Amino acid sequence: MYYGVQKPPKPFVLHSGSRAQNRVLLNNPTQMNSQSSPRSFNVDRIREDFPILKREVRPGVPLVYLDSAATSQKPLHVIEEMDRYYRNTNANIHRGIHTLAEEATADYEKARESVARFIGAKSPRQVIFTRNATESINLVSNTWGRKNLNSGDVVILTEMEHHANLVPWQMLAAEKNLKLEFIPVTEDGFLDLSALPALLALEPKLVAFTHMSNVLGTINPAQEIIRQAKAAGAVTLLDGAQSVPHFSVNVQDLDVDFMVFSGHKMCGPTGIGVLYGRQDLLEKMPPFMGGGDMIKRVYLRTFTPNELPHKFEAGTPAIAEAVGLGAAVAYLENFDMEAIHAHEKKLVIYALDQLAEIPGVKVIGPTAEHKGGVIAFTLDNIHPHDISQILDEDGVAIRAGHHCAMPLHDKLKLVSTARASFYMYTTEAEIDILARAIYKTKKIFSI
Ligand SMILES: Cc1ncc(COP(=O)(O)O)c(C=O)c1O
Repeated sequence: MYYGVQKPPKPFVLHSGSRAQNRVLLNNPTQMNSQSSPRSFNVDRIREDFPILKREVRPGVPLVYLDSAATSQKPLHVIEEMDRYYRNTNANIHRGIHTLAEEATADYEKARESVARFIGAKSPRQVIFTRNATESINLVSNTWGRKNLNSGDVVILTEMEHHANLVPWQMLAAEKNLKLEFIPVTEDGFLDLSALPALLALEPKLVAFTHMSNVLGTINPAQEIIRQAKAAGAVTLLDGAQSVPHFSVNVQDLDVDFMVFSGHKMCGPTGIGVLYGRQDLLEKMPPFMGGGDMIKRVYLRTFTPNELPHKFEAGTPAIAEAVGLGAAVAYLENFDMEAIHAHEKKLVIYALDQLAEIPGVKVIGPTAEHKGGVIAFTLDNIHPHDISQILDEDGVAIRAGHHCAMPLHDKLKLVSTARASFYMYTTEAEIDILARAIYKTKKIFSI
């Protein structure tokens, strides 16, 4: 019986098994098999796991989805796990004592454990669920930033950041009179690391940068930048929105202080994101939003905040979405993340070769060896919106615009670009269709 005394929180237990031991059997994705080895990388079989890839955009026109950097498609396992949760388990978490509430809480916390394991966090307490990478950065700027940054302090960002890692710092800079400095981007799409020593000599309090550019595809040498930044006494924040879904990222190897990413770009649902943080930093940070669940005790005029991670999760969280993210992690854990990366690298090489043959196509960013599965390009002076619209006639979904990186486009003296982006389910045949559709676009514009 429950007499109003708060039940002690269940201790977090990290799965003791290694990643390989925790892989999910793919033919029956809901079944864990401690003996299974990584699933061999077979793109045709992988595509079978993603129901949407079978659809036609209109009769006779199959979908060619080349917009995974915006959001990935979802495997059946994720869809079914969320369906199972709502059909079977749905209840609010951390407060009810009935069976459903306990099962829902267990599902939610199991998802946190899965995410912690996936990124190599020491403890699930270091994994805070947010809505997305954007909210995770806002959480850090509003709590750690507001508490620790003062007038005149320097924050170092880069010229290739997504708006999510610019605007929150601009807002705080306006409020606190901070100085924002930027690692420049070279003409061929790299961070100019020769500028870093002079920037670090400014004794920045924070160095926040993207692991992989969502426009250039550039994979930045995160470990080295973090090492130098920390040696200069800065706190580091890594935007892993485009890296965590695509290759192996281990927060302990990187020795990063904060890392953010979004569930929806890694086979999970929208509405769930992650902030990873160093435990001592998270513990010292004030709460982000106030309300239920983030408190230990509330009085009429004051409150005491809850323990990690709940201190940062006010109100009813995205429970089904967390379950979906846990399922996405389980799905990805079937594979060697390096096999996913290798597949995308092969696609980039193939696509760059194809695009190089089309007169008028100009690819932005570095060569294939330094790039993840993102190719932004221009085509003569055809507006990327027109390119995207014509490609859509052939079922090809790409992104057109500034991709939430206006300052980078300013630097490149471009207003917008077209962007094709790949994931584990993308095929060379789809890149052939993209190339044919680009030729068709040129023909329509008589170029
Ligand atoms: C590099 C990078 N950072 C941050 C974000 C923001 O992600 P979200 O919109 O899921 O918060 C994106 C989204 O495209 C991104 O590509």
